[in-house]
Amino acid sequence: MTERQTDLPATDYGLLARQLEALLDTRDALTNSAQTCAFIMQSVPGLNWAGFYLHRLPETLVLGPFQGKPACNPIPFSKGVCGAAARSRETQRVEDVHEVADHIACDADSRSELVIPIVSGDGLWGLLDLDSPLPGRFDDQDQAGIEALMTVFAARTDLATL
Ligand code: SME
Repeated sequence: MTERQTDLPATDYGLLARQLEALLDTRDALTNSAQTCAFIMQSVPGLNWAGFYLHRLPETLVLGPFQGKPACNPIPFSKGVCGAAARSRETQRVEDVHEVADHIACDADSRSELVIPIVSGDGLWGLLDLDSPLPGRFDDQDQAGIEALMTVFAARTDLATL
């Protein structure tokens, strides 16, 4: 159990999950991924980037809908925190990106990162990447809460439409 190292107020992820369910009233993956990253950026404090990378080329992540500064594109599965999430299909949580040797620095302000893979059938559809300028922004509750939001996103979305 890792405690969050910042003094941000705890986020009510149960409420956010219900709000996201109500927001996603189409099945369209482009619409829903755009709405979802905008919703997360507005609802979760202490973020400087929130968006999707999509598995649209072999072993490669392509930048999808996002909120924040223009970002790195494309990202091979072999590189960075996003690449590790794509290879392992497991959530990656980085307390301090300065300590990750192959972290891809799209924005020098970013200090901590949470990456959640989204699997459809037996394939990787893409992933959600959240960045924060605060070291140690994400704790176990944030991880579980954002993973639950991605479960809502995947259930409400026809992923094959993107
Ligand atoms: N930092 C990520 C790259 C994506 S940007 O943060 C938007 C990584 O190392 O995979």
